[in-house]
Amino acid sequence: MSIIISIGSGKGGTGKSTIAANLACVLARSGRRVCLADLDLGGADIHIQFGLFEPPRTLTDFITRRCDSLNEVLQTLDTVHGLQLLVGTGDTLQTANMNYQQKQRLLRGLQTIDCDILILDTGAGANYHVLDFFMAADIQVCITCPEATAILDFYRFLQLATIRKALSSFLSGSEVGTALREHSFETLDQVFTLAEETQPGARLKAREALEFFNPLLIINRVGNNARLNQMKLRTLVAKYLGVNLPDLGEIPEDQSVGRALRSFLPVCEYAPDSPSAQAIAKIGTRLGKVVDLYETKRRAAADNPAESG
Ligand SMILES: Nc1ncnc2c1ncn2[C@@H]1O[C@H](COP(=O)(O)OP(=O)(O)O)[C@@H](O)[C@H]1O
Ligand SMILES: [Mg+2]
Repeated sequence: MSIIISIGSGKGGTGKSTIAANLACVLARSGRRVCLADLDLGGADIHIQFGLFEPPRTLTDFITRRCDSLNEVLQTLDTVHGLQLLVGTGDTLQTANMNYQQKQRLLRGLQTIDCDILILDTGAGANYHVLDFFMAADIQVCITCPEATAILDFYRFLQLATIRKALSSFLSGSEVGTALREHSFETLDQVFTLAEETQPGARLKAREALEFFNPLLIINRVGNNARLNQMKLRTLVAKYLGVNLPDLGEIPEDQSVGRALRSFLPVCEYAPDSPSAQAIAKIGTRLGKVVDLYETKRRAAADNPAESG
């Protein structure tokens, strides 16, 4: 069973696809069997970063049932350390408006992909598809840029992801689950309050669901004069959402990223000594350690199911 890492951010243009592609390269280079899945339903473009202009198969083939297994859709990039790529879907009505059953089939299909690490690029915005792909992973990585607009979108994205996670702790048929699904929420506290009103003790249960939700933070496109007040963002997120954001690292604004894109290679392959590639390589090493830790925990839980809770 692979370890799934999702990449999300809220705003478009923060560098999700760039970072997803480069982290996939770095982790594949370290000897792991990596698959990169482009789940950006509105703007799938990761294949372009690898110069793949006419992919023979895409996610559309799976969604429209031309292929039964996602493994049939994958392309292996022999020149990029054997990285496997699930090319995203073009924006057709059928795929952009994927229904519940189609999405569940896709989420199940992702679990069957034969690799060590599966990286999901989740697309922009904070609609249900984006949030569900983001939350379906074992490890979440979130990305923001130092500008105020990106940070605001990032906070909103995280807030909606947190609410969705809290809601998912109640089965849809349960009393609390039913009550919660009939409302829309703007803040996490509203979720907790209604849950508790419906059933005493539910607040605690929702809080517990969030205990292991600690998305790892990457700040991208960091320049000299636009440093984000990271502490402020962290304090805000901890205070209002009760979520910690462990630091994965920063990536500088770097022209090599654009040059690499025009050469159809991720910057970690095109210019490994450039500042951005070096920063991403460091982040990749840290992420590799988080994956190792997760694997160890998963193995321990499988060996001692009673103790894992
Ligand atoms: N660190 C960086 N330095 C310079 N340009 C970057 C950096 N990160 C991303 N970019 C550029 O920003 C644009 C948006 O990046 P992209 O990865 O497509 O964002 P997203 O997937 O979040 O919409 C691309 O043109 C990309 O080359
Ligand atoms: Mg993108």
